[in-house]
Amino acid sequence: MALTLSSAAQDLLFREARTANTFTDEPVGDEQVRAIYDLVKYAPTAMNQQPLRVVLVCSPEARERLLGLMAPGNRAKTAAAPLVAVLAADLDFHEELPKVFPHSAGAREMFAENEALRAHSARFNATLQVGYFILGVRAAGLAAGPMAGYDADGIDKEFLDDAHTVLAVVNIGRPGEDAWFDRLPRLTYEEVVTTV
Ligand SMILES: Cc1cc2nc3c(=O)[nH]c(=O)nc-3n(C[C@H](O)[C@H](O)[C@H](O)COP(=O)(O)O)c2cc1C
Repeated sequence: MALTLSSAAQDLLFREARTANTFTDEPVGDEQVRAIYDLVKYAPTAMNQQPLRVVLVCSPEARERLLGLMAPGNRAKTAAAPLVAVLAADLDFHEELPKVFPHSAGAREMFAENEALRAHSARFNATLQVGYFILGVRAAGLAAGPMAGYDADGIDKEFLDDAHTVLAVVNIGRPGEDAWFDRLPRLTYEEVVTTV
């Protein structure tokens, strides 16, 4: 009763949503990816920065290049996933600020002058968007398999330019046979939440 979201939607997005390790070969359509983005673009970011960038790895040749950069334990699932997305942070997100945060005249210049602040902000806010992206995949009735086990420098070089850096690689599709590892324990409210 404390939640407004329907119980079915709670299950879809959270309780029954799992990290998939195998996939069926049912393709993930372009319209599904667009629908996912059109939801998750509303994620909040500091100063509305929106530094997340998404590279869809679609060609067989690109998939092969990516597989060579994945940790050995991640290769089979990344090979089998109907769609793989490289989620990256745009370290030059400040160039969009005049458009996405127009009322703050000096915002672009503040980040232009401070590379360390810009990189931190890009990573922090794009990572927040990665979480929303995973929720969006689930909202489409698909399973996500986020991974951080890869050669990050290699992915940056092969798939991104100097102004972008990888944050996660996400396999996307319908779960296949034996798709899940055992559900691992979650920390309880008492372990996580304190009151001051
Ligand atoms: C940022 C991130 C990185 C992860 N990296 C890997 C990975 O490299 N390989 C892997 O098999 N699983 C990886 N996982 C999957 C987690 O282990 C999994 O989401 C977690 O244990 C919860 O599983 P569940 O959703 O089935 O409950 C990653 C998950 C996240 C969010």
